[in-house]
Amino acid sequence: LITPVILSGGSGTRLWPLSLPERPKQLLSIGSDRSMLQETALRTRDHTRFAPPIVVANLAHAEAIEAQLADVDCAPGALVLEPAGRNTAPAIALAALAAAPDALLLVMPSDHTIWRVNAFLDAVLRAAPLARDGWLVTFGIEPEHPETGFGYIKLGEPLSDGVHQVERFVEKPPLVEAQRMLRDGGYAWNGGIFMFRAGAYLDALAKHAPEILSPVKEAVQTARRDGARILPDARRFADSPSDSIDYAVMEKADRVAIVPVSMDWSDVGSWDAVHALGPHDEDGTVALGDVVALDTSNCLVRSDGPTIATLGVSDLIVVATGRHVLVLPRGRSQEVKRLLEAVKERD
Ligand code: GDD
Ligand code: MG
Repeated sequence: LITPVILSGGSGTRLWPLSLPERPKQLLSIGSDRSMLQETALRTRDHTRFAPPIVVANLAHAEAIEAQLADVDCAPGALVLEPAGRNTAPAIALAALAAAPDALLLVMPSDHTIWRVNAFLDAVLRAAPLARDGWLVTFGIEPEHPETGFGYIKLGEPLSDGVHQVERFVEKPPLVEAQRMLRDGGYAWNGGIFMFRAGAYLDALAKHAPEILSPVKEAVQTARRDGARILPDARRFADSPSDSIDYAVMEKADRVAIVPVSMDWSDVGSWDAVHALGPHDEDGTVALGDVVALDTSNCLVRSDGPTIATLGVSDLIVVATGRHVLVLPRGRSQEVKRLLEAVKERD
C-alpha cells in the first residue's frame, strides 16, 4: 500500500479576502462543492492501493481539518500538528518519521486542483517501482509560461516507461532563466507532488540537511500523542531551520526521477488562476456565488457575501466576502499579497 501524506500548512494569502490565516486556501471550496483538502483526500480513497493518509497541518486548524475529513469519511492514520510551520522539508520529515521506514509515501499539497484524477493515479503507479527502489520521484507538469513561482526540472535519460532521471532541478528561477528554460525545451514544472520511501527521504535529509533532521527527530521522539493526533515538541521543532523540500533536498539529491503527467493541474496560486479554472460563460467571465453579470467579459466575479452586479466591464477580478471587497485588473493578482500588507498596516 501507498501512504498518502497531505501537506496542509500554507497560509494562502494570495487568495485574500477569501483565504484568511484562520481559513487558508486548502480549507476553502474553489471550483468544487468540497474543499481542496477534501478533494485531495478523495484522490487516494481507493483502499486497495492506499493506506489512510498522514496529514501534516498547523495546530490552529486541527478541528477544522478533522471535521472536513470526517465529512468525506476519511479517517487519517495520523494527524501531525505543527505548533508553527517550518516549511515543507521539516513538515515532510515529520510524516516520514511518523511512518514506518519502508513505507512508500505519496506527498501531496492540499491546495492544488487536478481534473484528470485517473491520469494522476496512473502516474503514481508508474512511479511506484522506482520509489520503492530508493529514488526520490517527482511529477512533472508541462510548462505553459515562464512562471517564477515553480520549480523547473530538466528531463534526463529514461529510467523506465514514462519515468526519466532528473538532470537538473531548479527551484523558483529568476524570470530570465525561466524564459530561457522554456525556450530551450526539455523542462517540466515541478508539480510539488513527491513519492519516495520514508527512509529514502530521511537519508537524503541526513546527507543534505542534517540541521533539519536532528531537531525534527527529537521533536517526534518527545511528541505527545492523542488518538490519531501527534503533537511534536514545540521548542525542539522550532529549532529546525525553515526550508522547502525543493531547496533543502530535491535540488541537491542524486537519485531523483520525474514522471511527466498531463492531468489538468493547477496550483490555484492566484485569482487569475481561479479565473483560468472556469467555468467560463460565453463572454469568458467566471461568475461564482450571488452574481449578476451583464455585458461583462473576461472577468472573475465571486461573492461569498453580498450580491455583486456588474455591467459593461472587462478583464476585472471582483471578490466579495462578508467583510471585504477586492477589485483589481486581471493579470495583477500576484500583487494581492502586497495589497493585503497595506490593508493590515492600516488596521
Ligand atoms: N504542514 C505544512 N507545514 N505544510 C506546508 C508548510 C508547512 O510549514 N509550508 C507549506 N506547506 C504546504 C502548502 O500548504 C502547500 O500545500 C504545499 O505544502 C507546498 O507549499 P507552497 O508554499 O505552496 O510551495 P510553493 O507553491 O511555493 O512551491 C512548491 O510547489 C510548486 C507547485 O505548486 C514547490 O514544490 C515548487 O517546486 C512547485 O513548482
Ligand atoms: Mg503552492
